[in-house]
Amino acid sequence: MSILVTGGAGFIGSHFVLDWLHGSDETVINLDALTYAGNPANLASLAGDPRHVFVHGDIADRSLLEQLLSQHRPRALVHFAAESHVDRSIHGPGEFMRTNVQGSFSLLEAVRAHWSGLDADAKAAFRFHHVSTDEVFGSLAPADPAFTEDHGYAPNSPYSASKAASDHLVRAWHHTYGLPVLTSHCSNNYGPLHFPEKLIPLMIVNALDGKPLPVYGDGQQIRDWLYVADHCSAIRAVLAGGRPGQTYNIGGCNEIANLEIVHQVCALLDELRPDPLGPYARLIRFVADRPGHDRRYAIDARKIERELGWRPAETFASGIRKTVRWYLDNPDWIASVRSGAYRDWLGKQYGTPAG
Ligand code: NAD
Ligand code: TYD
Repeated sequence: MSILVTGGAGFIGSHFVLDWLHGSDETVINLDALTYAGNPANLASLAGDPRHVFVHGDIADRSLLEQLLSQHRPRALVHFAAESHVDRSIHGPGEFMRTNVQGSFSLLEAVRAHWSGLDADAKAAFRFHHVSTDEVFGSLAPADPAFTEDHGYAPNSPYSASKAASDHLVRAWHHTYGLPVLTSHCSNNYGPLHFPEKLIPLMIVNALDGKPLPVYGDGQQIRDWLYVADHCSAIRAVLAGGRPGQTYNIGGCNEIANLEIVHQVCALLDELRPDPLGPYARLIRFVADRPGHDRRYAIDARKIERELGWRPAETFASGIRKTVRWYLDNPDWIASVRSGAYRDWLGKQYGTPAG
């Protein structure tokens, strides 16, 4: 038996593949285009492991998908591959439409063709798990209740609009063709192996370099923070017990404002790697706000707890400590992801000189 994972060299996908092979002998076929966000070094510990079959390719490549599906006959697919960074989607939405919308469409069509040819038992057992985001629901006011699975869609960024589009395709492929799909909406993940363009890893690596810590607007935007290993355990639970056609919210029970996150990261660094020049919070700089910046996301994750018995294992305090420690212990990984393309991105987004 095997499962097919897309985007398994990215942040969450690589954790999922590593966790999966830690707890199961079922082979993982890992299809990843290795964009700037895909990092084979994340999977280095699997070198030589026959249970991990890495395929360098694009989810929009229909013939490659057909070949992989007929060769490996996976019993399930977990779809992580996406362009995932809101700020990049503001600078250049085209790639988000190509991968998140067109790529997801190609994947659905290839899987539908494969699934249609299975025998009745295999058809019923097959699962297509689509990894979505809470951002498709839009922005909440301070006193609004958290997003439930029934919350209306109101995506505000090119990224969230492209993810919403893919969610709708997945839903339609279930309703129209009967494809046994599962969709999960998770909140902001954090943890080791996180590419330092997103808030938490960017703050850690900038602080260690003595560089400014750029906080957008007033820093009072709120996100729910989910430790990446908890996200992986939730996906496993949904894959194993989720009802086809259903959607499941996955949250960390940690609604925290951005500025508070940055202060917590600084305080941990002050404790674990004190800077002789003074507290890291001295590096905080308020910069221009993100256009269309969503003010608050919050996740009501009671359905997955009620139906599948899942709850996050980490508190934010325990997860952020593990995360900061990991970055302190892995300077080689940090150096390896800071290619010329990464420096070009920092220049474009923050106007900082390369380096
Ligand atoms: P990531 O950007 O770290 O990784 C994405 C991976 O997809 C990379 O390995 C990249 O090479 C691969 N990829 C991109 N385009 C591809 C294509 N056309 N074909 C094949 N592979 C391609 O993303 P992530 O943070 O690991 O997020 C994974 C999924 O989870 C995404 O679908 C994202 O929308 C969703 N999600 C992420 C978060 C978060 O906080 N990181 C929160 C909610 C939902
Ligand atoms: P990010 O990690 O990009 O995730 P998302 O936009 O998907 O929530 O950003 C998290 C929050 O941090 C978001 O409100 C934007 C903010 N932010 C900053 O204030 N400064 C930064 O340099 C970055 C990257 C994000």
